Amino acid sequence: MKKRVYSGIRATGRLHLGNYLGAVKGMLAVQEQYDCVFAVVDLHTITVPYDPKTLSQSVREIILDYLAAGLDPEKCLLEIQSRVPQHTELAYLLSTIYQVARLEDLPTYKEKKAQYPQYVNMGLLFYPVLMAADIMLYKGDFVPVGIDQEPHLEVTREIARKFNQMFGPTFPEPVRFKTPGEYVPSLAGSGKMSKSIEGSFINLTDDLETIKKRLASAPTDSGTAGGALPKEGGVANLFKMLQLFRADDVYKKYEQDYIAGKIRYSDLKHDLADVIFTELQPFQQRRKEFENNPKRVDEILEKSNEACRKEAEETMGEVRAKMGLV
Ligand code: TRP
Repeated sequence: MKKRVYSGIRATGRLHLGNYLGAVKGMLAVQEQYDCVFAVVDLHTITVPYDPKTLSQSVREIILDYLAAGLDPEKCLLEIQSRVPQHTELAYLLSTIYQVARLEDLPTYKEKKAQYPQYVNMGLLFYPVLMAADIMLYKGDFVPVGIDQEPHLEVTREIARKFNQMFGPTFPEPVRFKTPGEYVPSLAGSGKMSKSIEGSFINLTDDLETIKKRLASAPTDSGTAGGALPKEGGVANLFKMLQLFRADDVYKKYEQDYIAGKIRYSDLKHDLADVIFTELQPFQQRRKEFENNPKRVDEILEKSNEACRKEAEETMGEVRAKMGLV
């Protein structure tokens, strides 16, 4: 039997280059090898303030991004979490075997509590249990997510272990699946590329001019540095981007220029913009095709979510029986 991969992205608007390199490209690689379910986790999305009028459109945008990136509904299942009601049922059942104190202690919960002091809801505390249910519903072995999700995966493993102990062997203990682009640097100088930091990201739908403009404002240094390449800061980030796009020749050229102390960052940025746009062009074309064919997208979703419900129901049958709920 093939190993099962499960991953999900929250529906907080379109994907940017960081999500694409960090998450979606990893998904593309694994869909060839494993039995995959890739989800848009809208039930997780609503644990922080959101607009119910635009939620379904945000979900749709990510599905379009998934399809345009090359996730193939013939090879993997594309899931909208709220269309598979078994997620919440399993999450509730799992919540009965896990301690509240452990959830209150998680860094993500504490961060969100500090960020939205007026919005500390049960769903926020419950978030990791629902995430465990997402993965366990499909008996996931591997989860391609960033390192920031490791505490949540630890919770998932603890819950799986506890369930297996109490009710008999049922679930694998899933592990994080590392992908090469998991840390995509911000264009703003430090940290990660992030939707919530203005000037830090490139959108997947940006045209060449826009990409150039965004790169133009990325910080560098005086350009006379010379010596070995810096390990962090704006200049290091530009080189890291070239690496992430496997633009080895361009990388080497500018590395030599840097060492010789004659680098011109405007040229580097120009070439980097070309490299990025070349990668994004086929994505943008495919996205337009799917946008113009909403019926086809609906059909894909219909079929995929039906298959998800069927599989989810199998797991639930087993879980209910083992827990004595028959
Ligand atoms: N918590 C994840 C994030 O913020 C999203 C998520 C929810 C997820 N359920 C999941 C990721 C299951 C992987 C598997 O990125």
